Amino acid sequence: MRVRKAVIPAAGLGTRFLPATKAIPKEMLPIVDVPTIQYVVDEAIASGIEHVILVTGRGKDALVDHFDRAPELEQFLAEKGKDDLLAMVRDIADKCEVIAIRQKEPRGLGHAVLAARPAVGDEPFAVLLGDDIFDADPPCIRQLIDVFEARGQAVIALLEVSEEQTSAYGVIKGTPLNAAEGTPLNAAGGTPLNAAGGTPLVPALHQVEGMVEKPAKGTAPSRLAIMGRYVLPPEIFAMIEATPPGKGGEIQLTDALDRLRAARGVIGCAFRGTRYDAGDKFGYLQANIEYALKRPDLAAKLRPYLRDLVGK
Ligand code: UTP
Repeated sequence: MRVRKAVIPAAGLGTRFLPATKAIPKEMLPIVDVPTIQYVVDEAIASGIEHVILVTGRGKDALVDHFDRAPELEQFLAEKGKDDLLAMVRDIADKCEVIAIRQKEPRGLGHAVLAARPAVGDEPFAVLLGDDIFDADPPCIRQLIDVFEARGQAVIALLEVSEEQTSAYGVIKGTPLNAAEGTPLNAAGGTPLNAAGGTPLVPALHQVEGMVEKPAKGTAPSRLAIMGRYVLPPEIFAMIEATPPGKGGEIQLTDALDRLRAARGVIGCAFRGTRYDAGDKFGYLQANIEYALKRPDLAAKLRPYLRDLVGK
């Protein structure tokens, strides 16, 4: 079945970014000049998604306004002859259908996904976390949708992290599925490597055998961590309903996914591409610097500036 809908949970409080997030949603903080949420919506659209469901909460109306028309601004830009800006502003509102649903209390990521149930209905859907940015071609969620459409099981994005980082993520135990692609495997994740020994040629797939949210230091079942992209069947909603509060007293999507795994199987997809955690200060700074360096107008000044700065 085709994946037409995407749920973007963006109802969290963003406490790691206080005081910036006291009155502004963290997903509106810009990477250069584009709000984080727009990168996420653009990834969904570029992956063939037709309906975007934003899960928001109190004080997060700016997220919905961003994808709405802005008549006064548009009129101002038209009168000033700023046609490029006018086209850009209109395009944000016109390029896809965005529906907003409120999560009435931030009771965890699983609870946020459950809030989207009335808008998703009885069909498979993608989940893209509103503060995770992926620079990937094809887009990360498209890579996962391709695996879902080929294999029919839920798919979660995986990234190999360091041992110390495992306690910040959901971590899986799994066995490589597509190891025999004619390419050598790296020791840690079973990722097929290209001849140069670095970039995976194809997303490496793992049959998930268990998963645990934020394992205590030294107890992680592997170094394969779950990142903010998922393709899920509608059965996940009943699994979330049956999931009691877990780590941090929150209803964890990872716990519901582990139930889904036991009942119907879950595939982990070590996607090809780079991920930035824009909900974390360091990841946010990394994304800003790297995206600015991709912009010819900024790179010409930024590159020598950074070189001088670190040389001091
Ligand atoms: P995070 O834990 O990164 O977001 O959740 P947070 O709670 O806003 O951030 P901090 O830790 O306090 O700084 C991952 C994603 O899930 C959403 C968040 O908005 C974020 O996109 N989320 C989390 C919800 O939508 N609802 C929740 O109850 C919790």
